[in-house]
Amino acid sequence: MPNSKIAGIGFYVPERKVSNFDLMEYMDTNDEWIQERTGIKERRYAVKHEETTATMAIEASKIAIERAGITAKDVDFIIFATLSPDYFFPGCGVLLQREMGMQGIGALDIRNQCSGFIYGLSIADQFIKSGMYKNILLVGAEYQSAGLDYTTRGRNVTVIFGDGAGAAIIQPTEEEGKGVLTTHLHADGTYAEQLAYINPGCHGGKWLGKKGFGYGPEEKFGGMFLTQHMMDNAMTYPNMNGPAVFKFAVTKFPEVIKEALNATGHTTEDLDMLIPHQANLRISQFVQKRLRLSDDQVYNNIHKYGNTTAASIPIALCEAVEEGKVKEGDLVCLAAFGSGFTWGSALIRW
Ligand code: UT7
Repeated sequence: MPNSKIAGIGFYVPERKVSNFDLMEYMDTNDEWIQERTGIKERRYAVKHEETTATMAIEASKIAIERAGITAKDVDFIIFATLSPDYFFPGCGVLLQREMGMQGIGALDIRNQCSGFIYGLSIADQFIKSGMYKNILLVGAEYQSAGLDYTTRGRNVTVIFGDGAGAAIIQPTEEEGKGVLTTHLHADGTYAEQLAYINPGCHGGKWLGKKGFGYGPEEKFGGMFLTQHMMDNAMTYPNMNGPAVFKFAVTKFPEVIKEALNATGHTTEDLDMLIPHQANLRISQFVQKRLRLSDDQVYNNIHKYGNTTAASIPIALCEAVEEGKVKEGDLVCLAAFGSGFTWGSALIRW
């Protein structure tokens, strides 16, 4: 049974840089608060009406495909992770497939938010191991800036997120001990509403209590997916219980990293590079301290891009490779935590 390996990786971020100072024009926030609490200096925002989650994914995919030494025609399966799809349905996988001329192959859209890339890698790994596919295109892409609340009300969420895309080609490798060594996936839906984009949706108030949700005049069917009441009451934005997410993240990150190391008989000292999901620099620093890792063992680029959810790990991994910080033979751990709550890890011998 072959291992799977990342044969090519690429990323794309929009050109437009939005600094903390730029956001101060719209909401009561400041550069000092944002940098101190999150480590973010600026993020990228897509160009409205021109760029979308799918277009950014396509740009990243072209690079990954070229670096893998294949063409789009060689790709035999697509896995697309995003929480900010172009359409509610169908998913971005088919848009990317259509625009890249890969019609006919399977396209799987997954919804695991910040853990999306690791969930996708684990799925790809199983398909490669089983021999079903040979060139899987795995994408994590987000257009967060399209759906944020740019008033002071939404500042705790809005200052964190940015746009971008990362993509990888996953192939089998016969090289002993190389490639994806192990993956670990977890979720706990107890906390589903702690970091969520609830409306529009088909929940009809079921999980939240209907009171105050204003589903309009009683109708036999419909009339609740997107209501005027939701729009008028700013209910169509993401919400986050920041401190709760932070608390969980700093426990689950170290746990799931150790799980991957233990499963393969490694220790933290063996780790050449940890690529954590870029949620918040303070979370990464906390995890680094807890695991007693050196600065050279942890990669961070959140100061430049903010939190790009499903795109953050492939963007960070790609940059680390380009900067020569991840080299052939290195032991690399990818780890993520986010909405769901979901969390996961992957250990790779590069
Ligand atoms: O991918 C997973 C995604 N999410 C995360 O990883 C988020 C994890 N959580 C966090 O990163 C942090 O909780 C935040 C950065 C979101 C917030 O930091 P915090 O230290 O937990 O702040 P807080 O929410 O407890 O708020 C502290 C204060 C509040 O003011 P009062 O009530 O003390 O007067 C907030 O209203 O900071 C205020 N605040 C802000 N002030 C300036 C919240 N957001 C902002 C802001 N600018 N952008």
